[in-house]
Amino acid sequence: MERSSICYSYPAMPRTLDPEFRQALAARIRFYNEMGIYDFYRRPSAEDVAPDEIGTAVATNHTQSGEEMSPRRSAAVATPVLAEDNIFEVIAPKPEQSVSDPVKALKIIREDLGDCTRCVLHKQGRKQIVFGVGNPKADLMFVGEGPGADEDTQGEPFVGRAGQLLNNMIKAMGLEREQVYIANIVKCRPPGNRTPEREECETCSPFLMRQIAVVKPKVIVALGAVAAKTLLAMNASMMQLRGRFYEFRPAGARSNDPNWDGCKLAVTYHPAFLLRDPRQKGEAWKDLQMVMTELGLKTPKANA
Ligand code: URA
Repeated sequence: MERSSICYSYPAMPRTLDPEFRQALAARIRFYNEMGIYDFYRRPSAEDVAPDEIGTAVATNHTQSGEEMSPRRSAAVATPVLAEDNIFEVIAPKPEQSVSDPVKALKIIREDLGDCTRCVLHKQGRKQIVFGVGNPKADLMFVGEGPGADEDTQGEPFVGRAGQLLNNMIKAMGLEREQVYIANIVKCRPPGNRTPEREECETCSPFLMRQIAVVKPKVIVALGAVAAKTLLAMNASMMQLRGRFYEFRPAGARSNDPNWDGCKLAVTYHPAFLLRDPRQKGEAWKDLQMVMTELGLKTPKANA
């Protein structure tokens, strides 16, 4: 199976920083940490973007199956800074990293999120923040786009019609909903169920990245284009994104975590899209079978 290592192609920080600059930078980062901000990004220049990995994907942003997301503002993908000598990682450990119990660690992230007002979604009619649900030590994690009306009311991801289909997909894999972890790219309902804006995704997804780093799943399934493109920080059609695994390490995860090397990420259609176009269910099932094989789950025999 073809594998990619796109998430390891981060541009390196300069090896040695001027001590005065380093001190000023450390003070600034401490200031941000005190405000609950732990993830830092820089927009790479055109030379930073590997042409075979991201450049071609950006260039071929053709619409496919109604599962598209608006193109990135530029080829400048929001790239997590994860060099070996990453100053940010050294001086900005996240509070949950000192806790071994994943339930407690997730609680810390939830508390950090607070009554979030970091993006405009907080003032556009959300009833509550929809954090995530499921097994805090799950091998398998599903990531959707954002809460809809039912999720906004109940405070739990994927509880409406799309959620029922997701439950059936999980069952078809031989699992129970309680065995997996389910979350979204944005934690507040976009008004009228519109697609979340890039800025909303970029503001909210660091919290999801922290949830992923705590749960440490073996496989993440990105449901739909918004989840796939945000998690992979690349712009491509669903047709290009599906059918393979990507090596994935969430931005900000410790690169020296002895218990976790990152995980694999697969892309499939969003259940809401499958409700609109049930003919694609067979394709989604192929994606899930690929995931089942990776997880060592029994797949149904062909023609059985
Ligand atoms: N669609 C999503 O992307 N997430 C939900 O939680 C519900 C519907």
